[in-house]
Amino acid sequence: MRIVLLGAPGSGKGTQAALLMEKLELPHISTGDLLRTAVKNATPLGIKAKEAMDLGNLVSDDLMLGLIEERLGQDDAARGFLLDGYPRNVSQANSLDELLERIGQPVDEAIQIDVDSELIVERIAKRAAEEGRSDDTEEVVRNRLNVYEEQTAPVVSYYAEKGVLSRVLGVGSVEEVLQRILGVLAQRDTA
Ligand code: AP5
Ligand code: MG
Repeated sequence: MRIVLLGAPGSGKGTQAALLMEKLELPHISTGDLLRTAVKNATPLGIKAKEAMDLGNLVSDDLMLGLIEERLGQDDAARGFLLDGYPRNVSQANSLDELLERIGQPVDEAIQIDVDSELIVERIAKRAAEEGRSDDTEEVVRNRLNVYEEQTAPVVSYYAEKGVLSRVLGVGSVEEVLQRILGVLAQRDTA
């Protein structure tokens, strides 16, 4: 199964993907994690991506397409995957579709995790104190939320038009949200 997880910064994409990975035995592909590793290792990609990430802006579409093409080409992605953080604008959604159409494996399900912005700010502030992720400062979070509204929110409509979108409430315990997502996937399976 090929699943795309959508949602604002801090909505719980990474948290849920890590649990779904175990349940569904699918690789969790987080473009944010891949980029953070590249920055940490100062690879050519990391050096190019760092400035945009530090500001909370999107890394360029062509760099991202190279990254995602390479990752989806790896053996473990042949049976399916959980995408977290990609696509992030309509152009990336189109590129992903083209890529997957070429191999005859379209997106089966896009799941939008809905959390209101007040709770998001609260969660990210907590994570900033616990983990110190460099883009979790107040100013950068504000920009990440704006970028999400302007560029990523339209991706939700994109998948709705394709008839593969479901929305789940991302509020409540991690386990409650997980059960909502598993419920959506079970429905799609029997549809
Ligand atoms: P990325 O790493 O994708 O960050 P993001 O989308 O801003 O999302 P987060 O990772 O902050 O949130 P999340 O939804 O994963 O939530 P989490 O589970 O951690 O991207 C970072 C940057 O990389 C971008 O700004 C951009 O520069 C670049 N980038 C990445 N992909 C790109 C692309 N495709 N194109 C261009 N640029 C790209 O949860 C948040 C917190 O809440 C955690 O502390 C968690 O423990 C807690 N939490 C989760 N669920 C619950 C719950 N139910 N109850 C209470 N707390 C909870
Ligand atoms: Mg994440």
